[in-house]
This record gives sequence, C-alpha cells and structure tokens, in this order.
Amino acid sequence: MKERTLSIIKPDCVSAHNAGKVIDILESNGFSIIAMKKIHLTKKQAEGFYIVHKERPFYDSLTTFMSEGPVVVMVLEKDNAIADYRELMGATNPKDAKEGTLREQFATDIERNAVHGSDSKESADFEIGYFFSALELV
Ligand code: CMP
Repeated sequence: MKERTLSIIKPDCVSAHNAGKVIDILESNGFSIIAMKKIHLTKKQAEGFYIVHKERPFYDSLTTFMSEGPVVVMVLEKDNAIADYRELMGATNPKDAKEGTLREQFATDIERNAVHGSDSKESADFEIGYFFSALELV
C-alpha cells in the first residue's frame, strides 16, 4: 500500500551542495516526490518541528543547527515509505550507518546527520502537516 513520509535534507547537506545527490538517490530507490520546498527555518519553527525532543539535552543545539541555513523538505511516497526511507537514511549516528546509506555518505556526526525521516505513521502525519497544506499534497 502506498504510504507517505516527510523527508528533510538538513542544513549541513544543503550547504555542502549534496541536496541534488540525495534527491537522485531517493528517486533511484523508487520514492516519488509529492511536494518539495526549500526554506530557512527560524529557531522557533525548528523548535516546533522537534517539540517531541524538547526535554532532550541536545534540543537547543539541534534546533540551532536546523535553523542555521536552508533545508529542503519533501513529502515522499512509495509502498512502505516510512520504513524504507529510514533504511535508506541509515542509523542516526553516521558511525553506525551501513555502507551506501545516506548518512554514511553525507553525514558528519550524530547531530549534523544530513537527513531526517518520519519514524512512524503518526509522526509522518504531524510532520507533513507541519510543512505542507492539503492543497500542496494533491
Ligand atoms: P533526526 O532523525 O532528525 O531526529 C532527531 C535529531 O536529533 C537527530 O536526527 C539528530 O540530528 C539529533 N540527535 C539525536 N541524538 C542526538 C544526540 N545524542 N546528540 C545530538 N543530536 C542528536
């Protein structure tokens, strides 16, 4: 069954000019791009997106990083998109990411880890709605 997930190419990956390479890999792996935008998040917008992590020690640093420069935000669609995109991203910490994954290729460390993907159907619904209106998702 077709499923949708939210993908972010993070500021480290955009500023390294690797966004196009990530998009190419996504399409080569069967993901369709339903919607896409490049935006520079404010600190408050980054805090709202990562609200689930607000008690974590890395919350302030993470949201500062996510608002340091533009990101590319996409809604991706394919069968089993949520799990398949997480597999393609690789482990949160690039030291643990398998060869060929996006984080193994493009991430620097556990925070500056190149890409984000929704971790469940509930997260995907919240995260897609955070960035895209219904009219942008037809
Ligand atoms: P992401 O998949 O976007 O989900 C939450 C983000 O927090 C994660 O990727 C990393 O960028 C960051 N993160 C997770 N764990 C840590 C950590 N231990 N230290 C710093 N940043 C982290």
